[in-house]
Amino acid sequence: MQETLNALVNKAAAEFASVLARPEFEATKARYVGPNGELTALMKHMGSVPKEQRPAVGRMINETKARLQVLLDATLERIAAKELNAQLGPAVDPTLPSPDPGPGTYHPLTLVREEMCRILRKVGFTVADGPEVETEFYCFDALSTPADHPARDMQDTFYFPATTRFGNIPKKTPGEKYLLRTHTSSVQIRTMLKGPPPIRIVSPGRAFRRDTTDATHSANFHQLECLYVDRNVTVRDLKALLDYIFASLLGKDTKTRFRPHYFGYTEPSFEVDLSAQHLPKVRKEWIEIGGCGMVDPSVFTAVGYDPEIWTGYAFGMGLERLAMLLYGIDDIRYFYQNDLRFLKQFA
Ligand code: DAH
Repeated sequence: MQETLNALVNKAAAEFASVLARPEFEATKARYVGPNGELTALMKHMGSVPKEQRPAVGRMINETKARLQVLLDATLERIAAKELNAQLGPAVDPTLPSPDPGPGTYHPLTLVREEMCRILRKVGFTVADGPEVETEFYCFDALSTPADHPARDMQDTFYFPATTRFGNIPKKTPGEKYLLRTHTSSVQIRTMLKGPPPIRIVSPGRAFRRDTTDATHSANFHQLECLYVDRNVTVRDLKALLDYIFASLLGKDTKTRFRPHYFGYTEPSFEVDLSAQHLPKVRKEWIEIGGCGMVDPSVFTAVGYDPEIWTGYAFGMGLERLAMLLYGIDDIRYFYQNDLRFLKQFA
């Protein structure tokens, strides 16, 4: 009997050693201790064992059961460890230095922003900053943008609920609403309120409008604003500066032209077009790039400057539009998708 049991355990040990997965384990286990298992069959024979031999045979069977149980437990443990390893993947040594991802690169919008600021610094402009959350005064009223102007409509602009507070952004009047600035022109007002002329600033930053996203529109985009205030500033100075910056950024063959337009904060006002057919993907002769004009006397009055003494020009333009022209990008959405295949091209 003992020999039969030993042989059974040895056979089981060999079989369980090659078991790799749970279904196989269950099937093998059933062959020994299942209702029709080999050990079960031997136990059923206990009835036919002579009475005096029963305690000894019973002990042998119990020992065999225990040895089988050890085998079962070890096999199951081995299978569970294998399953866990499969989930965890290859072993990681956290003490190793991380793989070198290579140097980071600048986003194309950052590249154009920095290049424009560099070009403008060369001719005396300093970089000014303003908040992305604005109040109606800085974004509209002080810029002579009347209450019935479409930019002031809920349809076009992101307003905050009346109860929203921004402790770091002072309001001019208690009743005015906060909004996400629709243009960077608000920085003109904030800068002029800080001190007297002369002023020569460039202010790049985000602007927000309720635009539906498509290849050329985004609800969140970037602008670059310039303001120059001094004595005897003329349209000629404005045109000369625009010619200079576009030739510097896009190449000396770039031309600009003014088209009469209306902005509440400049008089006269123009839209600026540029011609740069040497650039990739530029098919049209003239491309609209921004707005500009001579600062309206009412704006000077709003910030406490004497319009009889001071003159100035201002302009604003979209940074995305500039970057798209410069790099031949045909969809504005590429800028915001963080796709490395796109971003790596500017490394
Ligand atoms: N703020 C205008 C816009 O977002 C652009 C602009 C026009 C800015 C005329 C100016 C300006 O400074 O003088 O469309």
